[in-house]
Amino acid sequence: MPRIIDCIDETSCDLEECISGLHESGFHPWAEESLQSGAHWLRRLGNNRTFLGDMLVDELKRGIKAAEEASDYGPQVVMLSMLGSEFYMRANFWPSVDEHMFRASGKSAFSYELPHDHNFDFLTLGYFGPGYTSDYWEYDYESVAGVIGEKAGLRFIERSTLTPGKLMHYRAHKDVHSQLPPESLSVSINIMHAGGAQGWLDQYKFDVEKDEISGVISAGGSETFLRVAVGLGGEEARDLAANFAGSHPSDRMRLVALDAQAGVLGAAECDELWRLAEGSGSRLVAMEATRRRRELVAA
Ligand SMILES: [Fe+2]
Repeated sequence: MPRIIDCIDETSCDLEECISGLHESGFHPWAEESLQSGAHWLRRLGNNRTFLGDMLVDELKRGIKAAEEASDYGPQVVMLSMLGSEFYMRANFWPSVDEHMFRASGKSAFSYELPHDHNFDFLTLGYFGPGYTSDYWEYDYESVAGVIGEKAGLRFIERSTLTPGKLMHYRAHKDVHSQLPPESLSVSINIMHAGGAQGWLDQYKFDVEKDEISGVISAGGSETFLRVAVGLGGEEARDLAANFAGSHPSDRMRLVALDAQAGVLGAAECDELWRLAEGSGSRLVAMEATRRRRELVAA
């Protein structure tokens, strides 16, 4: 269950003050003092009841120009700060089932009823509306290899709502949640931690009925790049895939490289590739290799 932080502060600040304050103090969620300092900035910004509305009105006035620069804006997210440092800020919009955007895009577009963890820490604050409800679980990231279908060891904690003014710390690789649409449109504002190692650590989705990992959400761009490069048949790409498959420090990347190799092999060669991978010494690679071999037999 994300930790509720009861920081009380009646003062308010604008977005620029909040961002520069966070830059000054840094945002290191693993250090209590830094976490509390970040929570205070978020609380002060949350006490400012006009900044987000003003920002949205400015965007609406800019009309077509804003639409042209829409890369930072989705139906669900408005970026509040720049990317590229150890944190960024955003506002998340949570439509109710009555909203047009929910009816048009469906629940999956807003990650509703999709149990998942996060590969980053973040602080969140209920800013507008009644707030989304979540079912919460916890699990031990270190005790899983990350194989699809692997037992996750989820422990159900509770169902609760991000009510207005509630401020929570979602802990990376620990808190799992499955969100439900709020009763009416709601907005949360977040400070997200952006660490350098994040891209190498998995974010999972879960099947909570079976208590299993059901997928990896965080697959990066290199997976697609490597598959396409190997699929196009270049010798350098094949060498790189072989190299990564054998010795890359990230088990996930080794698996991606093996999948890229397998993509251009026939069934018998494929089985041999995965048979060797079963003895690779990595729990993730070995368990996924066994799963791939089972799939080959079943195909
Ligand atoms: Fe989430």
